[in-house]
Amino acid sequence: MTEFVSNQSTTDPTKPSTTESGAPRESDANSLSVGPNGPLMLHDVALVEKLARFDRERVPERSPHAKGSGAFGEFEVTEDVSKYTKAKFLQKGTKTPMLARFSTVAGELGSPDTWRDVRGFALKFYTEDGNFDMVGNNTPVFFVRDPMKFPDFIHSQKRTPDSGLRDANMQWDFWSLSPESAHQVAYLMGDRGLPRNWRHMNGYSSHTYMWVNEDGERFWVKYHFLTEQGVENMTNEEAEQLAGSDGDYHRRDLFEAIDRGDFPSWRLEVQVMPYEDAKTYRFNPFDLTKIWSQKDYPRIPVGRFTLTRNPRNHFAEIEQAAFSPSNTVPGTGVSPDKMLLGRVFSYPDAQRNRIGTNFNQLPVNAPLVRTNSYDKEGQMEYHHSGDAPVYAPNSYGRAYQDEQGPVENGWEADGELVRAAYTLHSEDDDFGQAHTLVREVYDEGARERLIETVAGMLGDCVEPVLSNAIQYWKNIDQEVGERIEKTVQQNAGDDVPGA
Ligand code: HEM
Repeated sequence: MTEFVSNQSTTDPTKPSTTESGAPRESDANSLSVGPNGPLMLHDVALVEKLARFDRERVPERSPHAKGSGAFGEFEVTEDVSKYTKAKFLQKGTKTPMLARFSTVAGELGSPDTWRDVRGFALKFYTEDGNFDMVGNNTPVFFVRDPMKFPDFIHSQKRTPDSGLRDANMQWDFWSLSPESAHQVAYLMGDRGLPRNWRHMNGYSSHTYMWVNEDGERFWVKYHFLTEQGVENMTNEEAEQLAGSDGDYHRRDLFEAIDRGDFPSWRLEVQVMPYEDAKTYRFNPFDLTKIWSQKDYPRIPVGRFTLTRNPRNHFAEIEQAAFSPSNTVPGTGVSPDKMLLGRVFSYPDAQRNRIGTNFNQLPVNAPLVRTNSYDKEGQMEYHHSGDAPVYAPNSYGRAYQDEQGPVENGWEADGELVRAAYTLHSEDDDFGQAHTLVREVYDEGARERLIETVAGMLGDCVEPVLSNAIQYWKNIDQEVGERIEKTVQQNAGDDVPGA
């Protein structure tokens, strides 16, 4: 246990304990009873308050990404990218305090860190223009491309309604019937589906975002956070063993590294696409299941961040942290990626429910700048605007905004209201980039490990899901699909007594 740093909290842990209203507590050990063996008293405020507060200690866990942890640090811009963005925190030499939280997606608050899963990579930058959040993953693509399918995807990865168990059959049923998931699934079943720890993995915005420069020129941008510790992964066997012996392996690793002064860092590099290129690029650049080739858009260095301070209170600073892609600052913006537009609504909505209406007033979420909003009241309001007018417009001098015309970080859109998939660009299909990953990026050793992993999971699947999943792999890569099929059959044969 580290020493108390009393000026970091609102309590004074060195003083005798008090009730929550500040009166001295007589005992932290004994309840008030009628004689030493007698019944307890309802007016024992110390006991009643202690039990009532205990009953309310938990807030709901995050719906996805429940298990995780994080740390604080600083982001420094080392290169001049002012021709692409005017964002103040992205100007050369600027240093910005920040928070990072890493997580798994499907597991619950107490689940093991080493289950095979995508890892969350959420960053909050406390800039002089308000908070900028980059809520990414350790993979550059995602399973689906329309927010309508996101809740179904998460349901399929969590637990079945009847047994409450996780279920490979349900996972592969969703994936094999959602061919757009192929690229991300090929990542997840590969070596990067089991990072050695959070320090040794990259982070990606995955989505395309917007940058705007001083002249109002717009660019599409993808963020890459490249680990300076080097990418390292672990085997299925190690992961399984650690899931049993040390479920908090990744949380512990980050905390202990920072505690001993071994501060992890990541370089920020970006791919930048001129605004007009988006119309004709060979892949639809807003489709989250696709990457942009680095041959077409090479990575440009921007800066680096280093994590140097552990949370002093995990609940206050990590559990109650609220990251959201809706937190942008001037010079940045979102894009027509439908998933991203869905997320812009979903995160603050989840946080109003999970933490409370005024979650942005908590120190970990509050911007460094003072705010001026006509939003008011709700549970636990702490910051308020005193007796200033609560409506706009008003005749009493409270400022409000009324800019009109095109917004600087917007785009043109016109057409019928439709429910439809994205328009396909010349090289768009569901399996092409997944095939390149499996065939050209993975070497034979990596392919072999992927085949074992997938075949192991498919051993728990039944028809028609099993056949659909094997066909899905043949669509990605005929040979890999056939090898998976053969391994599943061999494994099944091995399970038959006497076989
Ligand atoms: C967490 C929704 C797609 C990365 C969450 C949370 C929600 C959510 C509700 C919990 C927020 C909270 O309680 O604080 C969605 C929806 C999506 C989507 C509706 C698609 C339409 C994605 C994608 C990524 C991503 C594509 C990565 C590129 C994360 C991360 C967290 C998270 C890293 C954890 C943030 C933290 O550490 O607090 N998501 N998500 N999500 N999501 Fe998503």
